[in-house]
Amino acid sequence: MRFVQLDTPKPISKIGLGTWQFGSKEWGYGPDYERRAADIVRRALDLGVTLFDTAEVYGFGRSERILGAALGDDRGRVVVASKIFPLLPVAPVVQQRAVASAARLGVRTIDLYQVHQANPVVADTTTMRGMRALQDVGLVAEVGVSNYSLRRWRFAEAALGRRVLSNQVRYSMVDRGPEKDLLPYAEQAGRIVIAYSPLAQGFLSGRYDARNPPSGAVRRANPYFLPENLERGAALIGALREVADAHDATPSQIALAHLLRHPNVVAIPGASSVEQVERNAAAAEIDLADDEYAALAAAARAFRPVTGLAAVPKLIRARAGR
Ligand SMILES: NC(=O)c1ccc[n+]([C@@H]2O[C@H](COP(=O)([O-])OP(=O)(O)OC[C@H]3O[C@@H](n4cnc5c(N)ncnc54)[C@H](OP(=O)(O)O)[C@@H]3O)[C@@H](O)[C@H]2O)c1
Repeated sequence: MRFVQLDTPKPISKIGLGTWQFGSKEWGYGPDYERRAADIVRRALDLGVTLFDTAEVYGFGRSERILGAALGDDRGRVVVASKIFPLLPVAPVVQQRAVASAARLGVRTIDLYQVHQANPVVADTTTMRGMRALQDVGLVAEVGVSNYSLRRWRFAEAALGRRVLSNQVRYSMVDRGPEKDLLPYAEQAGRIVIAYSPLAQGFLSGRYDARNPPSGAVRRANPYFLPENLERGAALIGALREVADAHDATPSQIALAHLLRHPNVVAIPGASSVEQVERNAAAAEIDLADDEYAALAAAARAFRPVTGLAAVPKLIRARAGR
């Protein structure tokens, strides 16, 4: 395993484990998954993964419970990251919700407590007052944000008066927005970009096509899995396969290695099996050559999916099974 080279209370592995899937029916993994989830966490620990990401909203608290129970006595030696869903993130609410998350996780300190998304009405000054109080009593070690623009990330730091260590954002080969400003800022300021959906929810695995779409409501709502986009993605998957063959690896591993090349990026792929978590952890060790990196970036740039409003009628039709 490789780690971020930053001064943090505990080392942060370049590959973490995302746990939205835990206790969340909308991924369609069925009742057996809860037991597998515990195996996934234990295997991740064996492989040197130290960053475990959850949120109070995942499975309405089930993800936090499953993760905390599976980590057991190892909770204290890893970075447990959770998120507050900012419905009314005023200081007293932030404090109550952190207490509830810590109880579900079974920890005395939440290593990284993140604001799940920017609230359009409540200013970060108010939210960060709650975060600062939580840090002062030791219930929270580091503060993070998620889905924040660079402007709001910096504003949140000013409001906290301390570093906001990380911004967790959608970042994969097909969602490269963070490269514009978040990555340069993280590098210059010694912060971390936590890449969520780093495999574009499995789109980059190359496992799916129009005749074989993935399970669950989450991905039925994701335009990348429209038959048209799966077809348009064939060249990108081909490029990933070519590099993967040269490294005796899989397309997913190469998609992760591509992101991890940036020193201040960590990725938190979710996993549906122990085998996937093994592969994902191993991706941290893959070094891409410059020409491989460039060829993959060019293939990613050439991928033009149907997204936004244009995708909506197609998603509705796909949902209706037509
Ligand atoms: N902050 C936010 O707003 C936000 C939003 C979304 C996610 N997140 C966090 O980020 C985490 C990851 O994002 P995500 O779950 O949306 O997407 P992801 O990590 O890109 O995709 C996860 C899915 O990809 C497939 N997969 C994983 N490893 C694989 C491998 N080695 N080979 C082939 N397929 C593999 C699995 O699905 P199948 O096996 O079923 O194909 C798995 O469930 C979440 O668990 C959550 O913690 C945060």
